[in-house]
Amino acid sequence: MAVKRVGILTSGGDCAGLNAVIRAVYAHASGHFGWEVIGIHNGTAGLMARPVEVTALDDRVMGSDMLRQGGTILGTTNKGDPFAFPYEDGRVVDRSEEVIEGFRQLKLDALIGIGGDGSLDILRRLAIQGGIDLVAIPKTIDNDLGATEMSIGFETAVQTATAALDHLQPTAASHSRVMVLEVMGRDAGHIALSAGIAGGADVILIPELPYNFAAMEAKLAALRKRGRNFALVIVAESVKTEGGQSITAVHGGGAQAMQTYGGIGHYIGAELAKRCGAETRVTVLGHVQRGGTPEPKDRILGSAFGVHAVDLIAAGKFDRMVAWNARQVIDVPILSAIQGAATVDPAGALVKTARGLGISFGD
Ligand code: F6P
Repeated sequence: MAVKRVGILTSGGDCAGLNAVIRAVYAHASGHFGWEVIGIHNGTAGLMARPVEVTALDDRVMGSDMLRQGGTILGTTNKGDPFAFPYEDGRVVDRSEEVIEGFRQLKLDALIGIGGDGSLDILRRLAIQGGIDLVAIPKTIDNDLGATEMSIGFETAVQTATAALDHLQPTAASHSRVMVLEVMGRDAGHIALSAGIAGGADVILIPELPYNFAAMEAKLAALRKRGRNFALVIVAESVKTEGGQSITAVHGGGAQAMQTYGGIGHYIGAELAKRCGAETRVTVLGHVQRGGTPEPKDRILGSAFGVHAVDLIAAGKFDRMVAWNARQVIDVPILSAIQGAATVDPAGALVKTARGLGISFGD
C-alpha cells in the first residue's frame, strides 16, 4: 500500500530538540515524498479524545524557527497509561482500544512515536494490538534508552547542568562553600557524570556507584589540605541515602498523582555540613534541564532521526527505532531499546576519565 498520510506524536517528558524532529519529519515526508503529516496532540491522550485532537502540519507552522524552540509544539503527557488508565473513583481501566480506534479514524498509514522507554513500550504494545505500522524515535534527557548512544534532549540537559556548575563555582569560591547541585536522571547518572566532568565537579554521585560519606569527607579534607576553599558536588536525583532509601516527592493529587525523585541534594548537603563542618548550599536544578534552547547537537540529532524515520516508513520497515551509533544513524528493533536500559557503565570511558581527573565518586 502506498503511504499517503502519517501521524506523529511526542510522548513522555518533554525535552529540547523535539521540535527539530517534528520539523524534519514534516520536511522530508511532505517535501520529498508528498505525504500528509498529522500532528497528534499530547501523545496517546490525543488519540483517546473524541473528537481526536490533531493538527495537519503545514508550511505555516513548520518553519526553521522551530529548531530554536524547546518543548514540543504537539504537547505531551507522561500520565494516563492507556492500558491502565486511572480514574478519580479508583477504577483502573484498559482504554487501549479507544486509542487504536482514534488512530483508525485518522486513516493514517503509519505512526512515528517519539518517546523514552516507558512511552515506547506503550506505543509498541498499541501497535501490536492494533496492527499499527510504528517507527520510533528515542528522546530522553536521561539518555538511558538501550541500542542508541544518544537520545534527543540529553546534550541540552548536560549543557544546562554544566552552566549551573559554571555559575556555582565563583560563588562557592567567594564564600568558601561546598555547593551541591542535584540534577535529573531517573535511575541513570549520565547527566551528573557528563556535566560533572565538563563543569569541574570534585565529587560526582550517581546511582550506579555506591558511595559513603567517609570517602567524601576524605576528598573534601584533601582539597582543603591543598589550599582549596570550596568544592562542587553534583548528585543525580536517583542516588539513595547512605542507608539505601530513595528520596521522592509526590506531585498533584487524586488518580493522576505522580511520584518523582527529588531531594537527595538536600540530604547530601545536610550530611556534609554535619560531618565535615562544611558550609553547604544546595541547588536543585529540576525542570530547567528539560527546557531551554536546544543545543546544536540536539537539533542535528533530531533532524537526522526525523529524516531516517521517514525513510524507514518509505521502505516499509516498521517496529524499528532510529538510533545513533558510531557516527551513523541506524535503526534497531524497538524492543532492543526498551529492554536494554543503558545506565552508566562503572567501568566505562567517562567514569575512567573522571577518576583520572581525581574526581571522587564517593567510593
Ligand atoms: O525521564 C525524564 C525526567 O526528566 C527524569 O529525569 C525525571 O525524573 C522525570 O522525568 C520528571 O518527571 P516530571 O516531568 O513528571 O516531573
